[in-house]
Amino acid sequence: MMKTIIKATGRYLPDRVVTNEDLTHWMDTSDEWIRQRTGIEERRWIPEEGGMGASDMGLNASKVALERAGWTPEDIDLIIFATLSPDLFFPGSGCLLQHKLGLKSTPALDIRQQCTGFLYGIEIADAYIRSGLAKRVLLVGAEVHSTGLDISNEGRDVAVIFGDGAGAVCLEAMETDEPVGVLASSLHAQGQYAEALMVELPASRLNPRIDVEGIEAGRHYPKMDGSRIFKLAVKRLPEITITALKKAGLSVDDIDLIIPHQANLRINQFYQKALDLPDEKMFNNIQRYGNTTAGTIPICLDEVLEQGILKKNATVVFSGLGAGVTWGAVIYRFPS
Ligand code: UT7
Repeated sequence: MMKTIIKATGRYLPDRVVTNEDLTHWMDTSDEWIRQRTGIEERRWIPEEGGMGASDMGLNASKVALERAGWTPEDIDLIIFATLSPDLFFPGSGCLLQHKLGLKSTPALDIRQQCTGFLYGIEIADAYIRSGLAKRVLLVGAEVHSTGLDISNEGRDVAVIFGDGAGAVCLEAMETDEPVGVLASSLHAQGQYAEALMVELPASRLNPRIDVEGIEAGRHYPKMDGSRIFKLAVKRLPEITITALKKAGLSVDDIDLIIPHQANLRINQFYQKALDLPDEKMFNNIQRYGNTTAGTIPICLDEVLEQGILKKNATVVFSGLGAGVTWGAVIYRFPS
């Protein structure tokens, strides 16, 4: 049977470290509030003068992943680019990355799944690979949040949680009857909660799509009903993990590590508690990077692999919930 294997990963975080203390210069907040409510200590932002888009960060992460995989860009059959902060309104950052990789006609697909971009991306890649449509897929999750945040008091609930960063994963077909690779996935969306976390402008439903009045009202900044999203996350994440494990014929006892979306350390602590898992089975790095949305899971995965903390044949769960709302989980087992 054809299986989808993680061949290699890479990450890129901009050099500019923004601490909680730094944020206190722009808004009424404190290191104590941010740490207690979110677990975040610092995040990375692109240079203040800008000049770095999601595709640039995706390129840096991809170069590392390609090198480790031993692939040239020409080996890629499909690029999947997950971002909510594309370089341009259109075309997608996947096309820009394709060009920056020096490619001439490799297909590139952008997905707008926000915090679950990596999860939707891996399921799409798996479907392409198992159907024989592709053998090698480059999946990238990259976000530049810093240029789109309201760093005044008005936007402080959102501004303190987001960071910039990118992760890239090379996914490859492997012919094997062993139970390895992507074992199962379960994805969902509930558009009923679209406005609980959104950026409204520019909006095609408005004419003009964006105007001075809208900008003055801050409608081009992200708005979030934090407590609603929080409550949904702590309910859905354990639930979806069990569902995906069942699909794979596994149980919570089979989990070696959960590599969850990094939205809030407290969410992941509730999630861990609900599944009664020890600390070493839940990976978090939100303390250092904040929430990099589509970037969180591939960045975590890259750190996990770099740290060599997984045993052979380890079974991992990728999971998350975010804007849409969308949520999901993917069960993956490393080949020996
Ligand atoms: O990946 C995308 C998905 N997003 C999420 O999963 C986020 C989920 N939600 C959260 O992580 C939390 O809701 C937040 C961290 C965003 C907020 O934490 P909270 O415990 O829900 O706080 P809150 O919004 O209920 O606000 C509590 C208080 C309010 O003041 P009052 O009304 O009690 O006087 C806020 O105005 O904290 C205030 N506040 C702040 N204070 C200092 C809000 N933001 C800040 C801030 N610094 N940055």
